[in-house]
Amino acid sequence: MFDTSNTYASFNLIELGLLPENWVAQIVKVAEEDSYLVKLDGKSSTSREPENSDAAEVYVVEGDVIAEKLNWLHKLYQIDFLEFANNNFKGLYDFAQNIKSGTNINLLKGKNARYEWHVDSNPLTGVLFVTTHNENEGGELIFKLPKETLTIYPKSGTLILFDARQIPHTVLPLQKEGIRISVPLNYYNRGQAQIRPDDLDSYIYKKSDQ
Ligand SMILES: [Fe+2]
Repeated sequence: MFDTSNTYASFNLIELGLLPENWVAQIVKVAEEDSYLVKLDGKSSTSREPENSDAAEVYVVEGDVIAEKLNWLHKLYQIDFLEFANNNFKGLYDFAQNIKSGTNINLLKGKNARYEWHVDSNPLTGVLFVTTHNENEGGELIFKLPKETLTIYPKSGTLILFDARQIPHTVLPLQKEGIRISVPLNYYNRGQAQIRPDDLDSYIYKKSDQ
């Protein structure tokens, strides 16, 4: 379940029978129809970009749209995935009270599209991989651990859970035309206030004028 460095736990949702038929097509449709462009300039309190990096361009769907149009995914986030978190990590977790930022869809479009280096602010994060990205294709998720770099090749239908408050991570640029879709999911400590950095939501939900 956990990788050898104990950084993340992974779950094969297809083997577990948790995903509906046509789930990829459903998410792709919402990602294409309901996302807007955000240019991450590396200047938020959670950014960990090298100096003078170009902005990372990502298309975002907010969680309230997911709750409405992909309700099965919203339910998995609030029920099944939360149970994975509580059964596999120390402590007890809860889903986000704020529907908009609890789940998102992140869509990277085209060659060189990437996500910025950053740390998370919430105590546990999930990512559902929608598209598959193999070696030499770009789009891999990278964790910068104190002594090593961990590479995860996204596999469609896999959920990973991790605490990356202290671990900078990024998505490397796509090496060819195409798309990369993932669904980040935010969990919080049960019974505690769900506090997000003041600047974070205005940063990751700032609609760009193209
Ligand atoms: Fe993250």
